[in-house]
Amino acid sequence: MDEKIRKQWESNAEVFSNLIDGEGTPHHRMILNPCVERLLGDVKGKQLLDAGCGEGYLARHYAKKGAIVTAIDLSERLIETSEQLTESEGINVDYRVDNVCYIESVPNEEFDLVLSNLVLLNIPCLGDAINEFYRVLKIGGVLVFSIVHPAFNFYGPGSWQMGEKDPETNRRMGIFFKVDRYFEEKEYERYWKTREGETFPEPISFFHRTLSTYINKLSEAGFRLLELAEPVPVEDDDFFDRERRVPFFAVFKAVKE
Ligand SMILES: C[S@@+](CC[C@H](N)C(=O)[O-])C[C@H]1O[C@@H](n2cnc3c(N)ncnc32)[C@H](O)[C@@H]1O
Repeated sequence: MDEKIRKQWESNAEVFSNLIDGEGTPHHRMILNPCVERLLGDVKGKQLLDAGCGEGYLARHYAKKGAIVTAIDLSERLIETSEQLTESEGINVDYRVDNVCYIESVPNEEFDLVLSNLVLLNIPCLGDAINEFYRVLKIGGVLVFSIVHPAFNFYGPGSWQMGEKDPETNRRMGIFFKVDRYFEEKEYERYWKTREGETFPEPISFFHRTLSTYINKLSEAGFRLLELAEPVPVEDDDFFDRERRVPFFAVFKAVKE
């Protein structure tokens, strides 16, 4: 399974990096990232692990804010891209090819903060990853992770009933969001599209799980949940009409006591 997922991200590494383009998509910038930043709090001088860093834009962002950042990813190509982008910006991040489900390169109780942004919905081994985050955090350390909201995720049990295209925003209007088979935890494969509408070379695996599964895995590992956030767009833009009606992301903050 690890090998299949590694191959997916290796094949998609270039198009994924282009999609992120050093700053994330509009959904990331206008909905998710401000929430993640609030939950992480002041990162200055803190040891931060970016677990599943992709092309590393958040690792670079938090390094610029004064965190001492280590970043891991399963994909060698994404780690190479991250290293190149980081070097060109003249900042320092320690990148490693490693697996969030058994993090070989990190000893126990090394970090004040673990950030895992949009990764846990792409891995089969949720409980192992959360146990690993617990292991590498110091006592009092904080885990922040985000996922696409499992109740309203169109890769999982739901989808929008779409209406006409809105001429103002060029997006199709949402009539209502329908959810079914929410309790069926299973893998879906989906092809992403580039900003230009081209299909990615390989599908990406998504693992649908209920919200209670995520919360219970945190408790089983020993974490205490501090906040579960369902962020709304930070600007009152018509483009995000659908995302103001049902949550697009869920973000968890938990502490190792
Ligand atoms: C949706 S991307 C998110 C990347 C980045 N965190 C961001 O916000 O742009 C998911 C990332 O998880 C990585 N990944 C998938 N399975 C992994 C695993 N078992 N260990 C480490 N990274 C993994 C992929 O290579 C990919 O970079």
